[in-house]
Amino acid sequence: MITLTICNHKGGTGKTTTAIHVAAALGLSGHRVLVIDLDPQGFLTRVMGIPEPPEEASVLALFNPSLSLQEVQRHRVGGFDLLPSSTGLTRVMRQLNRPTDVFWAKEALAKGGVDYDVVIFDTAAAVTVYSLNALVASQHVLVPVTPEYQPVLGAEQTAQTVHLVREKLNPTLHPPLFLFTQVDARKRTHQLYRRYLSRRYGDRVLETVIRTSASLAQSFEDGSTVFTQDPYSRGARDYANATDELLRRMLQDRAAAVAV
Ligand SMILES: Nc1ncnc2c1ncn2[C@@H]1O[C@H](COP(=O)(O)OP(=O)(O)OP(=O)(O)O)[C@@H](O)[C@H]1O
Ligand SMILES: [Mg+2]
Repeated sequence: MITLTICNHKGGTGKTTTAIHVAAALGLSGHRVLVIDLDPQGFLTRVMGIPEPPEEASVLALFNPSLSLQEVQRHRVGGFDLLPSSTGLTRVMRQLNRPTDVFWAKEALAKGGVDYDVVIFDTAAAVTVYSLNALVASQHVLVPVTPEYQPVLGAEQTAQTVHLVREKLNPTLHPPLFLFTQVDARKRTHQLYRRYLSRRYGDRVLETVIRTSASLAQSFEDGSTVFTQDPYSRGARDYANATDELLRRMLQDRAAAVAV
């Protein structure tokens, strides 16, 4: 099973759009995919058309030792399964203040009972117990980044967090991969920031970029994605290519780790 966190400490960088479209692209190519919405704002859950679920049928089940993931209803949307967010996450966060509270998601997946090829966590733009749970439960991290100052800074801070998690909590976590999103080819800043991040992180910056796309800016709120709504759009093509590259890179990272 591949476990992947989508994370950038800066907001609005395309995390949720990326989680949905990477999951959908993997689903289309025959992978069994589970998306876990760990963002208390639950934007991914909402745009996939899922109403506020009962807490025990939401991502809060991960933090409830009497429930196993197997028993929790997952929603079939856009070619993948979704464990929806809950507004209760904000309240429960206050109780999750022990050092061991970062291990809940990892333990829930380790208990088994669910059979997926890929599990993807969508996270909020902040370092919280939830984003740490995602990073502790993952082997891979993808950092969507828009070619602007603050998102690039957020991406660098995210890379530092990943490094800390790797050192202290999860040695199986690979260094992050970066994906430029909302790229407007007419603006020179994209090349500028791309060169900057590539100098710092080398080939961890994916070659594929996601361009600005009107069809990606729409939210359908009925569980469909750009692959079904507008399959020939540049948004669909860019995410199909980015997913191919991402999958290849994750498999390379795994192979390299086994060889060591
Ligand atoms: N390639 C794109 N082209 C056009 N619009 C996009 C693109 N990617 C994302 N958007 C739009 O940008 C906004 C922010 O995207 P998204 O919600 O995916 O970011 P996020 O990082 O998850 O935000 P948050 O930090 O609030 O969770 C959304 O309105 C989305 O529809
Ligand atoms: Mg989001």
